[in-house]
Amino acid sequence: MFLIGGFMDQASTLRKIKNGAMKGVKVISVTSGKGGVGKTNVVANLAIALAKMGKKVLILDADMGLGNLDVLLGIAPMYNMNHVIRGEKTLKEIMVGGPYGIKILPASSGVQELTALTASQRMNLFMEVDKLEHEIDVMLIDTAAGISSDVLFFNIAAQEIIVVVSPEPTSMTDAYAIMKVLHTKHGENRFRLLVNSAKGVKESAEVYRKISLVAERFLNISIDYLGYIPYDENVQKAVREQRAIIDIYPDSKASKCFVELAKRVEEITTPSELKGNVQFFWQRLTEVMMGAR
Ligand SMILES: Nc1ncnc2c1ncn2[C@@H]1O[C@H](COP(=O)(O)OP(=O)(O)OP(=O)(O)O)[C@@H](O)[C@H]1O
Ligand SMILES: [Mg+2]
Repeated sequence: MFLIGGFMDQASTLRKIKNGAMKGVKVISVTSGKGGVGKTNVVANLAIALAKMGKKVLILDADMGLGNLDVLLGIAPMYNMNHVIRGEKTLKEIMVGGPYGIKILPASSGVQELTALTASQRMNLFMEVDKLEHEIDVMLIDTAAGISSDVLFFNIAAQEIIVVVSPEPTSMTDAYAIMKVLHTKHGENRFRLLVNSAKGVKESAEVYRKISLVAERFLNISIDYLGYIPYDENVQKAVREQRAIIDIYPDSKASKCFVELAKRVEEITTPSELKGNVQFFWQRLTEVMMGAR
């Protein structure tokens, strides 16, 4: 049923989902404090790596900035969430097909409107989401950078948060800053750190060590290390060709790490027949957004 929260205590449902008691579609946000650290590349390549492993992947493009996922994957969405909210299009109709059968939901436009939904618009949205549920195993959310409220909302509503960080000191302090606000203001205490553009294992381990030390000491939270993606010029070449690196340079260093990343993500992805998570994501998202109005 689409309104699970109507029947259950929503806080306890959220806890159950987060603790893995309810399994279904895994909803993972990919975020960072600082901009330009590689979120969109991570989302696109991780999505393709998962798709190659046989997973059904949906990307939610939640970044309002320019030059993002659609450009990277060479796709041109015609509609967005606004059309769904207004009841003009179904979610399926606004979805765009990407490489390897991945689907992209262009949510960047229309996100603000989620804060002003009427009861019937919300219901319509949840019913639409309900139809999607059995068609996906993983939903990856490409967020914008920074700690604006929209970014926070997507992270709060997701089950898993991947924080992308590069070895630059500003990226590290900003990664800490977003985890701090998500923890202190919104009670999030599970983060997975992915180091991007690292020279190698050693440097990425050092980045993780520094951030996790500070997080443990000042926030009293532990952060999981999800691995690293090396700096690889083929990433930039791929970007220029509007393709994902894993797609055109599958044997490159970075591509191999994306495959490893996908395996690790799959380990934390536990799909089953039980429903609830994607609907719950949207329900939670609209609630937190409306609550912050
Ligand atoms: N592992 C890498 N090796 C080399 N270059 C990289 C790597 N990852 C990302 N880049 C470069 O950094 C640029 C920015 O990456 P991307 O657009 O994915 O960042 P972002 O975090 O999504 O940015 P924004 O915050 O603006 O959304 C890419 O165009 C690419 O050129
Ligand atoms: Mg981006």
